[in-house]
Amino acid sequence: MGHIQAVIFDLDGVITDTAEYHYLAWKKLADDLGIPMDRSFNERLKGVGRKESLEKILEHGNKQLSEQEKDFYATKKNEHYKTFIQDITPNDLLPGILEFMKEIKESGIQTALASASKNAKPVIRRLEVEQYLDTVVDAAQVENGKPDPEIFLKGADQLSVDPAYCVGVEDAQAGVQAIKAAGMYAVGIGSAKVLTQADWVVQKPTQLSWEELKRRLEM
Ligand code: BG6
Ligand code: MG
Repeated sequence: MGHIQAVIFDLDGVITDTAEYHYLAWKKLADDLGIPMDRSFNERLKGVGRKESLEKILEHGNKQLSEQEKDFYATKKNEHYKTFIQDITPNDLLPGILEFMKEIKESGIQTALASASKNAKPVIRRLEVEQYLDTVVDAAQVENGKPDPEIFLKGADQLSVDPAYCVGVEDAQAGVQAIKAAGMYAVGIGSAKVLTQADWVVQKPTQLSWEELKRRLEM
């Protein structure tokens, strides 16, 4: 696909390990509700918005709640999550990701954040990575969550780049689907068995490099 002009990053599980905090917060809530939840089920929640995640957990546990109860539990999960993220510092950046972001910026490529999280802004502020991101799209700015491509398309649009010249970086199945649906090249972080639709999968951000990405895009 050559001539890449922008790289659009997911946040949770790509830039920092908040995917683990989302899991722990949901797990605590699922325990309270008496619904069994493990890491394999959690793969289905990654990248998925707060309300939809709760719906998936309830469906998984065959449990019905009123809208009012759902709001209560979604808020409770977010309170658990907020206690996890309150002490985040730049030390919580995943090893290798900052180096990769710097390499990209130094090559004159634009960058964006496309996060389904309403907590994205305080998290990137605490990580001190705002200066490496040209634009940010979060859950508050889109109508349709991942796997819908809207959030990645909006990121490309805010950078005035054609989606065909964008790369998306994701740790979630729903996120990789969103990148592919947007017509972009998908880099997956995690297991190739889980991220089957990704064009290139690395286990960890330390394995990312701009040289290698360019090589793969030219093929
Ligand atoms: C995504 C996470 O980035 O944000 C999901 O991968 C999470 O696990 C979603 O549910 C919504 O986050 P928040 O902070 O708005 O509840
Ligand atoms: Mg993620």
